[in-house]
Amino acid sequence: MDMATGGGDAHLPPVDPLARLRVAAQAREAAGLRRTLRPRTPDHDGLIDLASNDYLGLSRDERLVEAAVRAAREWGAGSTGSRLVTGTTSLHAELEDRLRAFTGAAGALVLSSGYLANLAAVTALGAGGLVVSDAGNHASIIDGCRLSRARVTVTPHKDVEAVEKALADRDEEHALVVTDAVFSVDGDLAPLRELHEAAVRYGALLLVDEAHSIGVVGERGQGAVHAAGLAGHPSVVMTVTLSKALGSQGGAVLGAPEVMRALVDAGRPFIFDTGLAPSCAGSALAALDIVSDHPELPGRARRHALALAGAAADRGLGAVDPAAAVVPVVLGPPQAALAAAEVFAEHGVRVGCFRPPSVPSGRSCLRLTARANLGSDDLAVIAGALTAVAEMKVNV
Ligand SMILES: Cc1ncc(COP(=O)(O)O)c(C=O)c1O
Repeated sequence: MDMATGGGDAHLPPVDPLARLRVAAQAREAAGLRRTLRPRTPDHDGLIDLASNDYLGLSRDERLVEAAVRAAREWGAGSTGSRLVTGTTSLHAELEDRLRAFTGAAGALVLSSGYLANLAAVTALGAGGLVVSDAGNHASIIDGCRLSRARVTVTPHKDVEAVEKALADRDEEHALVVTDAVFSVDGDLAPLRELHEAAVRYGALLLVDEAHSIGVVGERGQGAVHAAGLAGHPSVVMTVTLSKALGSQGGAVLGAPEVMRALVDAGRPFIFDTGLAPSCAGSALAALDIVSDHPELPGRARRHALALAGAAADRGLGAVDPAAAVVPVVLGPPQAALAAAEVFAEHGVRVGCFRPPSVPSGRSCLRLTARANLGSDDLAVIAGALTAVAEMKVNV
């Protein structure tokens, strides 16, 4: 250390530590990749909402809101600490029991978000082994892979042969195959049965993220693993979010008792995070009641997604058959996606606009998310907006 200058070098000019952030922000702006936070009103600014993940239209349902209020009155506004320190409320225990029964899993552990559920599952189950992850997986899975310190192989989208090869060629004793059930932007379904066969053949666990399929896929919305006949299989682990079709907030990992044990003992996002807020647990329980009492809701959301995809395809906007409620409309450059989102807003419809790094370069898109509670008037307005976007594309 230079004792005379107290450790600094008197000859270097002072550095502005924020300068590089300004330069990077300008570069993102020039590339059409600037993200802005905009205020919104409780009614989505009066626009038809095709941007949220409220697939069953439950987030504003009075029964969920009342259940949240009741839970907060009884247990408090926050859960006050990690469940390992402050204990598990009967509300959390009931939610885990209900999620387990709904999905057909042996056990469930609730965390405070779906993001943390993926971080916990991938790190606790992947550490010290091989993780094989689909190229289309959600950012929370990618981050889990990075944090796991496992060797990670990213396989091409839905390429079961590449998964098998990665499992067969490994030196590691244990392996984890991880996939979204329904991919969050493309809206397509993973080949779950084939992946499961591969996992079983090579002694691996299969982790399936049901974020976009719980409450939407399967006859009663029990998810893609259940629909594929894999529920309760000891080598299958699931993560779910409570924040989309179930209209609340939070997440869970579901699987065999050994998996639950590993997460409670070693799942850092469970151990070192304050437990799910009681109000969220309460409203998720109310959502599960509604989904059980109204088995028609998942089918309704899926039918609306098919209608949106059909309307896009009719206008040359190339949507594929959606597996659940997510309908992508690929525009290509980020500027085209931004312009198309603006056209939708002018027609009174709010849509998601996805640009890199949320999607690969050249695949910027709109994401239309169907809801069970869209009316025929809404669908007509959306069709008008799709027509205008198709015309905009031709005129670019
Ligand atoms: C596939 C997928 N997994 C996990 C998550 C994270 O869930 P949550 O929003 O509950 O943290 C999301 C949500 O954005 C997602 O799309």
